[in-house]
Amino acid sequence: MAARELILAFESSCDETSVAVVENGNKILSNIIATQIKSHQRFGGVVPEVASRHHVEQITLVTDAALKEAGVTYTDLTAVAVTYGPGLVGALLIGVTAAKTIAYAHHLPLIPVNHMAGHIYAARFVKPLTYPLLALAVSGGHTELVYMKAAGEFEIIGDTRDDAAGEAYDKVGRILGIPYPAGKEVDRLAHLGHDTFHFPRAMDKEDNLDFSFSGLKSAVINTVHHADQIGETLSREDLAASFQAAVVDVLVHKTQKALTNYPVKQLIVAGGVAANQGLKEAMNEALAVHFPDVDVIVPPLRLTGDNGAMIGAAAHIELAKRHLASENLNADPGLSFAHA
Ligand code: KG4
Ligand code: ZN
Repeated sequence: MAARELILAFESSCDETSVAVVENGNKILSNIIATQIKSHQRFGGVVPEVASRHHVEQITLVTDAALKEAGVTYTDLTAVAVTYGPGLVGALLIGVTAAKTIAYAHHLPLIPVNHMAGHIYAARFVKPLTYPLLALAVSGGHTELVYMKAAGEFEIIGDTRDDAAGEAYDKVGRILGIPYPAGKEVDRLAHLGHDTFHFPRAMDKEDNLDFSFSGLKSAVINTVHHADQIGETLSREDLAASFQAAVVDVLVHKTQKALTNYPVKQLIVAGGVAANQGLKEAMNEALAVHFPDVDVIVPPLRLTGDNGAMIGAAAHIELAKRHLASENLNADPGLSFAHA
């Protein structure tokens, strides 16, 4: 392998078309992200057909921009990587088809990457990872505690039984009149209010590492509906603060439980919800007291949401293991890490 390993990485699992060039798995030469959020906002969520059409329109432009910004051409590349699941099938297929075409045309190895592995490996741009480690992966579609015994080995030790944390944020945001995706704005409002509603902390006391957010979401919605019916106006700031306190409490407690059962030196907080200020503050505070030896790694804002660079970082590990795909690679919308 050449001293300079260059991976062209594709991400198109949801509403971001992103292509990156990553050097040696830990250096971003370019990371172009074309978001489609505005097209989905009026529907209150991602519309799969709209997403696919945008990916088709954007993918070549974004690829050209990524190569140009990195200052490389196809002939400089070592491999091509792509998210092949989990995600929206039509959206995934655009990235998979683009990556396969380039790999075939330029005789390059094709590396299939799990989207959630990408989220976790975004931490690799912060510092080297030491195994075993734990990751709390929290996004619009997933809420998982993942134990990694070694590089590229993922074991789900805790999972949501219903809604993902980000999904709960988006649904609660909707009832508060916040456009999709609502996480960032709910987070901002939460910092202006107080936990006055004391919403339920589902499964918090149960002796497992699983989560449930659907009851909490319903509790917020019922509270708002009830107030509407009796003509009362509730503080949006206090509703946001109370909802966020419940989510963060459960995420932090279950992570602490996981750290007790699986002693590690690093905790990665990954995925779109890792951008949450309240979560970062509470996690750092709790771990400083109870697990002072555990280093908490949260990727910077541009790398917590969906992006190609994180796929390039995860692909570096897969390439070293020669986990490659043939030209028959297909999208796998339900792709998952193996459960414990
Ligand atoms: O990882 P991501 O970009 O896409 C998926 O793979 O799902 O995550 C998007 C999710 C959305 O639900 C969004 O509302 C949430 O991340 N999110 C946040 C924040 N920023 C984004 N949730 C809470 N607080 C935030 N600051
Ligand atoms: Zn994601």
